[in-house]
Amino acid sequence: MAPRLGVNIDHVATLRQARGEFYPCVKRAAQLVLENGGDQITIHLREDRRHIQDQDVFDVRAITSDYGKPLNFEMGCNPEIIEIAKKVKPDWVCLVPEKREEKTTEGGLDLLTDENFSRVNKACVELKKDNPKLKISLFLESNPETLKQVPRFDVAIDAVEIHTGDYAKAFLLGQEVASYLKEFESAERFLAQNKINCHAGHGLTMDSMGPLLEMELFSEFNIGHWIISEAVFQGLGPVIRHLKKLIQIKETPRISDKSFI
Ligand code: PXP
Repeated sequence: MAPRLGVNIDHVATLRQARGEFYPCVKRAAQLVLENGGDQITIHLREDRRHIQDQDVFDVRAITSDYGKPLNFEMGCNPEIIEIAKKVKPDWVCLVPEKREEKTTEGGLDLLTDENFSRVNKACVELKKDNPKLKISLFLESNPETLKQVPRFDVAIDAVEIHTGDYAKAFLLGQEVASYLKEFESAERFLAQNKINCHAGHGLTMDSMGPLLEMELFSEFNIGHWIISEAVFQGLGPVIRHLKKLIQIKETPRISDKSFI
């Protein structure tokens, strides 16, 4: 099976919020993505509401339900946002670290201190208790120390989304990326041994996604900023169709046909 393309549409809301207007419409973006072959909509309701607003989450949920496609709700482990997730009932929650001063999520969750581990674990338990069908992914760095913490959770973790931001930046700068790819490979092996899906996200462009597709490690890519940026020139529908085609061309033969979902 080809990997899924999750499209993060936060930056449609960024553009809208920059002028306090009613356009561009986040709902229309979600519809266009799904009509053009996107496999999932990803949105991040940040504590500071800098882009996606509470109403957007419910509106986008209604659209993904209409199209029978998953909503992946990115969120920090904040009690207020957890309550919203319980009401929205997304298909997936992707837990991310969140700092107000950052421009975007700047790295994976820190699971290496007891305090942080318990906070994330508690959020997972609470979310799964409320909605046992919910799938949870954790946004993590690919280092082995962090990944080793995942099987310790009190509820099954369905996927790890590997933070690809540093790799993507190095790729764009024409720097050596072999060490990142090696680490991604080991990460996927460890996750597969533990029956945990391996997703990729952050900072990816069409070009930097290429080597990752070749390696056939990831069952899902979540891409936002590049897609919305490129849509300024090509239109959202054509960008999605093009990315989907690239993903499908790499489909055969695919050794990592191992979606555990
Ligand atoms: N995955 C996660 C967990 C993220 O936090 C983000 C950014 O919101 C993305 C994927 C998408 O990243 P980008 O917009 O850089 O493609």
